[in-house]
Amino acid sequence: MLANVSNPYRNYIAGVSTKVPVKDGSWTTYINFDNAATTPPFISVVNKIVDFSQWYSSIHRGTGYKSKISSEIYDNSRKAVLDFVGGTCGKDCVIYVKNTTEAINKLSNMFKEIYKTGVILSTFMEHHSNDLPWRNKFYVDYVNIDQNGKLDLEDLERKLKRYNGEVRLVAVTGASNVTGYKNPIYEIARLAHKYGSKIFVDGAQLIPHCPIDMKDHSSPEHIDFLAFSAHKMYAPFGIGVLIGHSSIFGKCPPDYKGGGTIDIVTPDYVKWAELPDKEEAGTPNVMGVAALLESINMLSSIGMEFIDRYEKGLVNYAYNRLSKFADIELYDFHKWPDDRVSIIPFNIKGLHHSQTARILSDEGGIGVRNGCFCAQPYIQKLLKISDEEMEERIKGNVKNPPGFVRFSFGLYNTYEEIDKVVKLLSKIVKNKEHYTKEYPLDY
Ligand SMILES: Cc1ncc(COP(=O)(O)O)c(C=O)c1O
Repeated sequence: MLANVSNPYRNYIAGVSTKVPVKDGSWTTYINFDNAATTPPFISVVNKIVDFSQWYSSIHRGTGYKSKISSEIYDNSRKAVLDFVGGTCGKDCVIYVKNTTEAINKLSNMFKEIYKTGVILSTFMEHHSNDLPWRNKFYVDYVNIDQNGKLDLEDLERKLKRYNGEVRLVAVTGASNVTGYKNPIYEIARLAHKYGSKIFVDGAQLIPHCPIDMKDHSSPEHIDFLAFSAHKMYAPFGIGVLIGHSSIFGKCPPDYKGGGTIDIVTPDYVKWAELPDKEEAGTPNVMGVAALLESINMLSSIGMEFIDRYEKGLVNYAYNRLSKFADIELYDFHKWPDDRVSIIPFNIKGLHHSQTARILSDEGGIGVRNGCFCAQPYIQKLLKISDEEMEERIKGNVKNPPGFVRFSFGLYNTYEEIDKVVKLLSKIVKNKEHYTKEYPLDY
């Protein structure tokens, strides 16, 4: 018998019935609307970790039976990962890292080794993880956003033309972790390739929510490089993925050197190992890979198209309910219902985002994120914060940080949860004065 008939997949997730204390002294079932930060694990992923622990052993170095089993799982996993994202076996290399941030840092180090100079086109809607690693290595320019916060493709083409073959990479997010906007990655790939560049897609917010296909290397729409984090796809055991051309990854020495990265070492000679070993220094995270594999199995059996449709249903429902409140500020994303993942940024007029987030947690046991979501340049543009104001903020003269409250849904969230949250929001909006006093700004 299913515990929650409104969404059977809820039963696949750990912690959906966890109760947390709220202000009136009672305990309530936690509502997690912060899946863009990290998701709870699939129960099967936790079980997999426990089962696999019977077989867990050192990989690549040991000769025992358990080492062989562990090595086999680890090595064979790369094909499953490539199949999941439409990568090409034999041409694309899967490198395991800790998370998307480490993947992008690694990619930027490789690019620096190989290309030395040139331009990286990032965008104003990137997470800091797809901006800062490129700075100080290359000349970084940013593709603009339009008045609605969407990427300006004309500006992208203008910049590709202007840099005249010098753009080494267009580094773009698959979906924004602030607005949920999905970028037209295949159109961007076409443009990047047309002007002799390559494309990297930060898939942190894309891979858990909808299907992706890196496409064949001969296609103008081919995605050259892709990164994502397992902890955002129900497998929080410390693994991330970087995928890209073996021919490019093979061109540079490893950025981390040590055990596992070499073939031959003498006191004055080093022959590096082949890919992917060259790029995976030290003892690999086999448990993390086992978790990722199970999560890929689960996501594939539920179906990425289904997840995409279901989450869009949630986001449209929530948006429609929230838009009835004159005091709730939403953004224009409803004009592109198909062009988005399950994220809603908002603010309640007259309340700071930190107050709203605290009230939701303390009064309703509702977990959200608030602030700038590691995307400060994007928030500054969306909120039209002037350079003068930023100067004052840098000097420390303006305290309360700008930002939004963010709802981000996962495949296990329900319409009933949205109703509960909307009920509390309605109470907050009606009793703003009371809540402002109860939750004073702490800046
Ligand atoms: C779009 C985007 N890129 C990169 C990251 C960084 O991911 P991680 O913290 O797993 O490295 C995040 C995290 O929220 C993200 O939303």
